[in-house]
Amino acid sequence: MIGLGVMGRNLLLNMADHGFAVVGFDLDSQKTSLLESSATPGTTVKGFNTLAEMVQALEKPRKMMMLVPAGKPVDDVIQSLLPLLEKGDIVIDGGNSHYTDTLRRVTFMEEKGFHFMGCGISGGEQGARTGPSIMPGGDSVAYKDVQPILEAVAAKVNGEPCVAYLGKGAAGHYVKMVHNGIEYAIMQLISETYDLLHRGLGLDNDELYKIYKNWNDGELQSFLVEITRDIFLKKDDKTGNRLVDMILDKAGAKGTGKWTSQDAMDLGVPIPVIDIAVCMREISAYKEERTQAAALYKTSSSDIPVPKEVFIQQVQDALYFAVIISYAQGLAQLHIASKELDMDIPMPQVVKVWRGGCIIRSSLLEIFFTAFQKNPALPNLLLEKDVAQLLHGKKQNLRNVIIHAVHMGYPVAGLMAALSYFDAYRSERMPTNLIQAQRDYFGAHTYQRIDEPGTFHTEWNK
Ligand code: 6PG
Repeated sequence: MIGLGVMGRNLLLNMADHGFAVVGFDLDSQKTSLLESSATPGTTVKGFNTLAEMVQALEKPRKMMMLVPAGKPVDDVIQSLLPLLEKGDIVIDGGNSHYTDTLRRVTFMEEKGFHFMGCGISGGEQGARTGPSIMPGGDSVAYKDVQPILEAVAAKVNGEPCVAYLGKGAAGHYVKMVHNGIEYAIMQLISETYDLLHRGLGLDNDELYKIYKNWNDGELQSFLVEITRDIFLKKDDKTGNRLVDMILDKAGAKGTGKWTSQDAMDLGVPIPVIDIAVCMREISAYKEERTQAAALYKTSSSDIPVPKEVFIQQVQDALYFAVIISYAQGLAQLHIASKELDMDIPMPQVVKVWRGGCIIRSSLLEIFFTAFQKNPALPNLLLEKDVAQLLHGKKQNLRNVIIHAVHMGYPVAGLMAALSYFDAYRSERMPTNLIQAQRDYFGAHTYQRIDEPGTFHTEWNK
């Protein structure tokens, strides 16, 4: 393991716990010491402070993974490794690299006779230690060599490991990027429900805990709802208040959500809930401007005109609906990207791997897994009958929640984006005939007709 930060150390210790003799490298001797001191007694774990020593300690062909920050650090590691490697050695990038960087590195390393794989890993530090979801792609020969290790350390669902070969080229990092896009979307949606229940209904953290607990015990069961539940109970050591109330409302972002949106735009795949999630984090960063605008556009808040229990149920249904739409958008992007970027992504395997260990794991993924097993070429989850059934039952409450939120002036852009996407996607006829007319009017861009084939242009103002 190259890079013994929290993720690298924990994943390496996880490998050791499964009977593999492992070595790790980090320049920082405190990190190598911590690695060795936190190893389970009886396991074989050794830390080195030079890359050469670490490489020499490995059996050939060497199997190495790096978990270092995306970008230049990955290229730096590759450059440092080059003089130390022999033909057939395997290097895996387990970080959140941009897939185009991975493609470039795969070609570069292949030309030199080395195997290079991009591999998404999800689950945070706890996941790395006890069982992450692992998304490898690229060199399928190298995958066979590391498969037993990855299968041993991955999370298990129904006894099956949450790891699978996910396609050619940079498929592993592409799938992880879209995973993170969906992660952004679901987090945004949960934050909107929190706002409606907290500011809108005036519920306190104890009441919120109970609501999210109920949701997590039911059909909304998922890692993100589960941790949201627990966040409401956490006390702040400094003030004794609930910690969530003491946290500044400015969201950070390392970029994977934005990359998902950028790439979807390039591919022409609409993923508006993910786009909005990125935008809302951006708006949150403008705290000072928001504070000025809040004073300028102050409105008196009014109560939601529905009984509390009824509204809570409506919000639950709205979240359920919009979460399904978020997965549908991300998976539709993978479906298209698989073909357009020549990755051959096995969609049932993607959904299978996401069922456990990762940040977007959720009981919904079992339903989606069944859908993709039936039809691996399913272009959009919304076309699957079982999913349609789920959405039918919830759509009215999503509309109800949006109506109340709009009346009261609460921002619910994620929920609205989910509903608008749904309403557009299920429209056999969209108003884009008018857009075509406008384009042809001012730019002679031509249009097609509904009653005969061909391309037409009209002199509109004659
Ligand atoms: C995971 C997470 C992980 C990381 C996010 C955070 O799957 O374990 O997605 O990769 O926590 O990249 O992303 P932001 O900093 O952009 O929110």
